[in-house]
Amino acid sequence: MTKLNVNGKDYEIQDDEKKLIRFLRDDLRLLSVKDGCSEGACGACHVLIDNESTKCCTLPVKVFADKKIVTVEGLSQRQQDVFAYAFGVCGSVQCGFCIPGMVISAMALLMKNPNPSREEIVYALRNNICRCTGYKKIIDGIELAAKMLREETPIPEFDENDYKIGKRVPRIDAKDKTLGTAVYPDDIYLDNMLHASALRSKYARATLVSIDASKALELEGIVAVFTADDIPGETKSGHLVQDWDCMIPIGSTIHFLGDAICLVVGENREIVEKAKKLIKVEYVEMPMVRTHKEAALPGSPLVHPRMSKDNKCAEKFISRGDADKAIANSAHVFKEHFETPYTEHAFLEPECCVALPDGDGVIIYSTDQGTYDVRGEVATILGIDIDKVKVENAYVGGGFGGKEDVILQHHAALAAMKLQRPVKIKFSREESILIHPKRHPFSMDFTLGVDDEGNIQGVKAEVITDTGAYASLCGPVLERACTHAAGPYHYENFSIHGVSYYTNNPPAGAFRGFGVTQTCFAIESLLNKAAEEIGITPWEIRYRNAIRPGEVLPNGQIADDSTGLVETLEAVKDIYDNTPGAGIACGMKNAGVGVGLPDYGRIILAIKDGKIQIRSGASCIGQGLGTVLTQEVCTMLDCKYSDVEYVAANTYNAPDSGTTSGSRQTTLTGEACRRALEKIIEAKGDGSWKDLEGQEFYAEYLGKTDPLGADVPNPVSHVAYSYATQVCIIDDKTGLVKKIVAAHAIGKAINPLSVEGQIEGGAVMGAGFALTENYPIEDCKPVGRYGTIGLLRSNSAPDVDAIIIEKEGLKTSFGAIGIGEITSIPTAPAIANAYYNKDELFRTTLPIDNTPYYKHGVFDFE
Ligand code: FES
Repeated sequence: MTKLNVNGKDYEIQDDEKKLIRFLRDDLRLLSVKDGCSEGACGACHVLIDNESTKCCTLPVKVFADKKIVTVEGLSQRQQDVFAYAFGVCGSVQCGFCIPGMVISAMALLMKNPNPSREEIVYALRNNICRCTGYKKIIDGIELAAKMLREETPIPEFDENDYKIGKRVPRIDAKDKTLGTAVYPDDIYLDNMLHASALRSKYARATLVSIDASKALELEGIVAVFTADDIPGETKSGHLVQDWDCMIPIGSTIHFLGDAICLVVGENREIVEKAKKLIKVEYVEMPMVRTHKEAALPGSPLVHPRMSKDNKCAEKFISRGDADKAIANSAHVFKEHFETPYTEHAFLEPECCVALPDGDGVIIYSTDQGTYDVRGEVATILGIDIDKVKVENAYVGGGFGGKEDVILQHHAALAAMKLQRPVKIKFSREESILIHPKRHPFSMDFTLGVDDEGNIQGVKAEVITDTGAYASLCGPVLERACTHAAGPYHYENFSIHGVSYYTNNPPAGAFRGFGVTQTCFAIESLLNKAAEEIGITPWEIRYRNAIRPGEVLPNGQIADDSTGLVETLEAVKDIYDNTPGAGIACGMKNAGVGVGLPDYGRIILAIKDGKIQIRSGASCIGQGLGTVLTQEVCTMLDCKYSDVEYVAANTYNAPDSGTTSGSRQTTLTGEACRRALEKIIEAKGDGSWKDLEGQEFYAEYLGKTDPLGADVPNPVSHVAYSYATQVCIIDDKTGLVKKIVAAHAIGKAINPLSVEGQIEGGAVMGAGFALTENYPIEDCKPVGRYGTIGLLRSNSAPDVDAIIIEKEGLKTSFGAIGIGEITSIPTAPAIANAYYNKDELFRTTLPIDNTPYYKHGVFDFE
């Protein structure tokens, strides 16, 4: 028996081996203690142990005998109030999953040193990963909290009237996320709730011969083991291509190590894990398809033998003008081969879902990027009408594209329906890293032709990607990579051919940047080469070629008045000119799905109980959509913050507003919100919106675009584009990246504080892609763990100077253009350019080699 004290109360624990995190969360329901990895790697579970910030996920309670433990719930009211205020006004909080752990590490520091330097704060946070913010605004928040605690500053009064467009206001959920009261799916504890987990395949490619779960079923506490035979509907699902098996049927082919063989359901997670070890599975192992090169060989084994004749998952040809002729006539031609790796989203919150029986249907609380996508796919698997599946987002602890696919919700729903009890499934970090689709690795051959003045004449490229075991969003990612491969420049001769192959690797899919991150590295790096040969600066070659309003983009679209690439270049000119060795790159990214596909933003604004209720099926995954919509409402109706209620995305009282993907929600759902507000203004006339009690105002916005290859002179491929220029500055002494100056043209910043946060976080994620991140795979098996895949920490992330360029021109959503993805796109080529300026090594692979971070395949930075 172990005795310890938690938040001032004494406890005696019979099971000495119980992990401390399980005691704090499951027994005491101290839910600020987040379970992000259970590997001691992410830092979300930090608690104070005798005033030292300590991870509590790997060690048993007996290690902490007689210790005093404090969680965020146990901080004084004053400390809680100060952190909630400081983190709110400093914009420290995005998805929020890391934040209580950050508060604890900050408190441990402040108890020893009430007036820490910025460097001391950075050091104190070195064991707390944040994947959203780039750390800068968290450090700002801690500096402010320290000052307020030191100087006993009263909490300033909250200005209810301040939530207007253009104001730097705290996120609406900042307080709950800071104090750990925001409910993520893993924070849902229900009476009679079961736990489930899938047994995964032993082999990356094999035939499943048999499953014997008899021994597992004998274990007390095991309620059921389901196999593919128990699936009432389709066994396969998928957003666009239905190729992903919910569970592998007997006699079928296994596609990767993450394939579910069967689903074990029991009274608690420990017994489920024990039972999984008792299940006997017979396989006939088969040769693996390990690389895109193997996948393309004639006679290669087929990853999906029943679905296709070869391993091609997608193929795209994107062209305009005559690239061959333009390049042949160019004064200077540059050719290079580029490679970029698989990378992992590493969002702080692993996938989790709770499903409850609901009559002859099911209710699902999940962390995902599209409630309606989940509804559709779960209904397909269950073989029931979509109306019988209700999906609601709990708080979502980050996504970055990695929570678009349905990978556990169907399992939880199946078990809940079959057993008529609530069922929770929470991925271990190992499962999360193995199963959700990654950023595609790219292999690219680029050719660039320019004239003597550096004007681009034409670009050609062959782009090959490995999409792993399942299509996921392979087709759209490949397409976006190809359409944006030409860069944000005014020329019209380009030809891009892209192919994506199935292999037996973990799947690849959407990841912040959607393929553009990869091709941008290639085209921007070649442009730097061209500038050098011609004898102009990398800044100058971009300025000469930069797309300007009224000019035609390589895809034929006429750039609208919001196009601000030139302004981003001008914004960084001084710092670029005055910093010898600085690297530079530009980028562009569409907002919205585009290319002629249906792309709707939808919303209902309901006047209910004296408030304006915002209801939209658009998932808020940490990017701050709820705050954006609240600011729109407060501005147009001139109302107070407390007049507005934001309802989480769901499928039962909020209309389908598409997936949170493609930097689309601020632009698409933001415009739908503006339209609904116009209806309210019209309906209220000279009265007040309060007079409309009980009424609902629905609005939608279709982002209308032309399909690829449309037979029109200037097709509109996307409703909006954001543009950026980033400059990388390397510290002369250490050789580390000291700073990224990131100028972003985004139309209108609804909340500049939030936009800065997106830029800072995105640029740091881009820096990781450039410098450290990798997801090594050996024989189709990922060999990295959360702590080894090169995620930048507070003491290795560069500083980011965010510059927001606002420019009128877009008529929708108050002129706001989604910022989610562009922030990560130009960073890698800007960093590669800076290192080239330092050592004249032209890097063509990521993460770049020969830096203090990474040398010869080894992650070197500590
Ligand atoms: Fe830190 Fe999302 S806010 S991980």
